[in-house]
Amino acid sequence: MPPPPACAFASDNAAGAHPLVLEALVDANNGHALAYGDDPWTRRCESLFDEVFGTPVTTLLAVNGTGANVLALAALLNQAEAVLCSDWSHINVDETGAPERVLGAKLIPLPSTGGRISVDAVIDACGALGNPHHAQPGVLSLTQSTEWGTCYSVDEIGALVEVAHARGLRVHLDGARIANAVAALGRGVEGLRDMVVATGVDAISFGGTKNGLFGAEAVVFLERDLAARAVFLRKQVNQLASKMRFISAQFCAMLEDARWLDWAGHANEMARTLHEATAPLLPAGAIHPPEVNSVFPVLPARAAETLREWCFFWDWDTSSGQYRWMTAWDTTPDDIARFAAGVAHVLGS
Ligand SMILES: Cc1ncc(COP(=O)(O)O)c(C=O)c1O
Repeated sequence: MPPPPACAFASDNAAGAHPLVLEALVDANNGHALAYGDDPWTRRCESLFDEVFGTPVTTLLAVNGTGANVLALAALLNQAEAVLCSDWSHINVDETGAPERVLGAKLIPLPSTGGRISVDAVIDACGALGNPHHAQPGVLSLTQSTEWGTCYSVDEIGALVEVAHARGLRVHLDGARIANAVAALGRGVEGLRDMVVATGVDAISFGGTKNGLFGAEAVVFLERDLAARAVFLRKQVNQLASKMRFISAQFCAMLEDARWLDWAGHANEMARTLHEATAPLLPAGAIHPPEVNSVFPVLPARAAETLREWCFFWDWDTSSGQYRWMTAWDTTPDDIARFAAGVAHVLGS
């Protein structure tokens, strides 16, 4: 069987943009509109975010996910404060130290299980509060869904927010894949409201790029007072796009008619199909059913090399021999059938 398209399972970041997003960009490419967000697409986008969250929020659009996280943290942090996050978090591992460099703030990585941190770990880290020799925990940052393709339950988020708020910390959610987590919960848009609004999260980086957008992210402030400074900080952290309408138009295409949940739900379903197709080919316990759109098989290193020369994917945890296969809004059952045939061939030989 021929291989699936190049990098078909490398990342949802490797996927193109949804055709409806490209259509929306073409429509927005019509004449002049005021720059920096003073345009009808941005107004529409902001009101769509209010509708989706079921409450008035302040939405600041951003250019990329690292920038959105830096902007959110910049708005939530006070001087001499630190960010508590998981040891596997994107802000800790994969942002080239941007939060530390740009914000001049320490990140305090906490031990995690499957990318999730526990209430006890947060309480322990808050032992530093009041000690003038220690950076003061000021923000708790959680990733939903996590870098390990797991999800915090609504109750877990609620409990983490409660201990954080009780100690004076603000809470940020890195929701680069929030759509996948909400789709996995299966309660439609209500799931987002339960997960983010009812739990008391202060601000969320709401991802678009991994869910069919060409390149667009948003920082949504539930605690709107915190957004007052963010309006200025956005320019300072290089996230104020002048032709904002092209970012807004992408989000409008994704948020209208709850498409964001359909697209992420499809990616999640394709990961389940990928798991079903490949689990019988691997030793028991070498791959677990996905919660969202990624699976993490343990593979023999030589087989993994052969397989990814044929269809590329990333290492994940070299200490445990785990790799990552990820699906996207555009993954097809045929891609999976072809990939599984390759896995069968390589592991069988
Ligand atoms: C959890 C998480 N947060 C944020 C990002 C955003 O990263 P980027 O700056 O590449 O858009 C990513 C991208 O992989 C991610 O996985």
